[in-house]
Amino acid sequence: MRIAVIPGDGIGKDVTAEAVKVLQATGEAFGRRFDLVHLPWSADHYLKTGETLPANGYQMLRDEFQAIFVGALGDPRVPGNQHARDILLGTRFELDLYVNYRPVRLLDDRLCPLKDRGRKDINFVVFRENTEGVYVSVGGRFKAGTTDEVAIQEEINTFKGVNRIIRHAFEYAKANGLTKVCMADKSNAMQQGHALWQRVYKEVAAEYPGITATHQYIDALAMFLVKDPGQYQVIVTNNLFGDIVTDIGGALQGGLGMAASGNIHPGKTSLFEPVHGSAPPLAGKNVANPMGAILSSALMLETLGAVDEAKAIERTVEAAIAQNQTTSDIGGSLGTREVGDWIAKRIAK
Ligand code: NAD
Ligand code: IPM
Ligand code: MN
Repeated sequence: MRIAVIPGDGIGKDVTAEAVKVLQATGEAFGRRFDLVHLPWSADHYLKTGETLPANGYQMLRDEFQAIFVGALGDPRVPGNQHARDILLGTRFELDLYVNYRPVRLLDDRLCPLKDRGRKDINFVVFRENTEGVYVSVGGRFKAGTTDEVAIQEEINTFKGVNRIIRHAFEYAKANGLTKVCMADKSNAMQQGHALWQRVYKEVAAEYPGITATHQYIDALAMFLVKDPGQYQVIVTNNLFGDIVTDIGGALQGGLGMAASGNIHPGKTSLFEPVHGSAPPLAGKNVANPMGAILSSALMLETLGAVDEAKAIERTVEAAIAQNQTTSDIGGSLGTREVGDWIAKRIAK
């Protein structure tokens, strides 16, 4: 398997090194070859060369790799983060990675931030539409920088985009024996764009009689995620709302450092990354939690069909938490590298 590895910026580099370590140990233990090709695309690279990614970058990712692993992108030295837009959002758009799959699974009761809740209450997935919404950068600024400035950022919702992500959520539920899907929008205020979500959701739900399809406004969903997360199995929502609620999801798993994600076009080259960003204040200090990145590498293997390998990684992360082999954000006393070493060594055994 040929995998592109883009460590990126800040703690992206720190956590990717550990995910790579774990992938290599997993490959050795299971007798599988992972050909990990590192690409330097990052703020450093952009500041040095003026290039965010090469002209044939997207084509190369699509044609030469089975998957892409990303650490994180974002650096205060690049105002506007043009490189992050090209490398991360650009790849989502150009490779048409329309499913942003973000499982929210509490791995140990001790990591639960909510009173009287535990693993049984925090176990759901969020499907975030990943190619439209407000992320398309349609709009403009008029009289920018003056007191008459007008700034327009349009939200794009297409039948194709809404239909395929909602359908994906129902198909996932069906394939995994789940019986509940909840769609979240803001159709009470956004009466044009989100009317499309309402219509498509009802039409698609009718095709899945075994699945209870509910709807919540996004503000209520954010509240219920904290108050009663046990009610959810599958959540489907738009690009921006999915971004926001999956940071809440990260907190429910013990912290943003625990959350994994896949940016997927089923059957095609897809991109895997932790949910967190480059956390500049933590960068290079050997303190970032690498588990979100390591769990993202497991999601990648699972998607590529290496299911036993993925399970082994997940089980080992759980063991690390149970034995307090963790970074300080989740209560341990180890550094980023030591957590990676522990998990890699244990998988090798
Ligand atoms: P962030 O996720 O980088 O960090 C927010 C806070 O969460 C950190 O200060 C830290 O307290 C905690 N945190 C995050 N990851 C952690 C980890 N692995 N271990 C321990 N604690 C962790 O969000 P931000 O500060 O809003 O953004 C920083 C930069 O990252 C920005 O440039 C932003 O655009 C970018 N970003 C990139 C991605 C991505 O590449 N996928 C995702 C989110 C943000
Ligand atoms: C994420 C990130 C990105 C997003 C940023 C870096 C543009 O927050 O993957 O969650 O908003 O999609
Ligand atoms: Mn985010």
